[in-house]
Amino acid sequence: MEYKISENVKSVKPSAIREIFKYMSVPGLISFAAGNPSPESFPAEDMRTVADGIFATQASSALQYGSTEGYTPLRNQIKDRLKNKFNSFSENDELIITTGGQQGIDLCARAMLDPGDVVICESPTFIGALNAFRVCGAKTVGVELEDDGISIDGLEKALKENPKAKILYLIPTFQNPSGITTVQEKRKKVYKLAKKYGVIVLEDNPYGELRFSGKDVPTVKSLDTEGIVMYCSSFSKILSSGMRVGFLCGPKELIDRCVVIKQANDVHTNLFFQMLVSGYLEKYDLDAHIQTIRELYFKKSSLMISALENGLDPSIRFTHPEGGLFVWVTLPKGDSTDIFKTCIDKKIAVVDGKTFLPSPAPCSSVRLNYSTPTDQQISDGISIFCETVNDYIKR
Ligand SMILES: Cc1ncc(COP(=O)(O)O)c(C=O)c1O
Repeated sequence: MEYKISENVKSVKPSAIREIFKYMSVPGLISFAAGNPSPESFPAEDMRTVADGIFATQASSALQYGSTEGYTPLRNQIKDRLKNKFNSFSENDELIITTGGQQGIDLCARAMLDPGDVVICESPTFIGALNAFRVCGAKTVGVELEDDGISIDGLEKALKENPKAKILYLIPTFQNPSGITTVQEKRKKVYKLAKKYGVIVLEDNPYGELRFSGKDVPTVKSLDTEGIVMYCSSFSKILSSGMRVGFLCGPKELIDRCVVIKQANDVHTNLFFQMLVSGYLEKYDLDAHIQTIRELYFKKSSLMISALENGLDPSIRFTHPEGGLFVWVTLPKGDSTDIFKTCIDKKIAVVDGKTFLPSPAPCSSVRLNYSTPTDQQISDGISIFCETVNDYIKR
């Protein structure tokens, strides 16, 4: 039988990050490849208390179907948090609970894109978003990501050259994979350009609350007076990634379309976990919990950064994130797939930078994660990593 697979789906490759899982069983391998939150960051005991309460008093609601838009108390809690803490929810907006932040990107893509449309992204960017756009048959066009955010000249050029651009996908804060944060000046310029060229900004902000140094930068959503910014995030990096609870908000008309698509997709996000998040927000202090995660990641990132500073050849550059989970290392020469394989031979797993490119291009960068490895693994592993890449560039 020759299976007639959708042409759009054929263009989507399995994530190289998932592929790395096959190396995970190699004895002694140290992995900097994951994008997982630290297991130490889950408030498991508090969540058990909330879960017990749900089963004691609301079991039949938790086990029943719910509404596609999401559990109303949770939606209201998130709206309040977005309004009061981030000025990122206006009276013209609506909000839907999604199955992780990933589904927010997917719904927005499905609501807006036709085959042949263009999505403009930072280059590099999050592979999960690239795949969501590609499944819709869209072309992804990358714009260079500079140390302070997307290149404004590059963005205007891409917008001019791609009249079929409908979405500008951005991760302005602690970007995945680079760790870079877009400065406020650039956010304003990006917003102006989006308005000028009539594209919707999809602002993806799963790491925004994980700042461990420097000053907060207002979201692009907070600048939106025209109803052109969709905003998605999730509880994956601040409570638990396995629960799969996220949200998408933006102009009511677009969210209404997303609700219809979600209905056809998974009917609604797991109701028990929505109730669990809601109960946690009611009973505990989420901000105090996030503060403990920030402290944990500050410690881990500092350990990684100082090991890189001490060990890397000065010609090798790397980002110094003020939050989030990642460091992006760029060698002065070489090929990222080759660098990945050379590291694997030394039992060090990193992510091949090419994975994150919206369109094929030469790449000599790899992504490192500091939230998952233990402190000992960071010390030992980064020392081996530095030796390996220092040797690599001398070849
Ligand atoms: C930039 C970015 N957006 C969205 C997601 C998806 O997050 P979630 O686990 O909430 O689906 C991730 C996950 O790593 C991410 O890095």
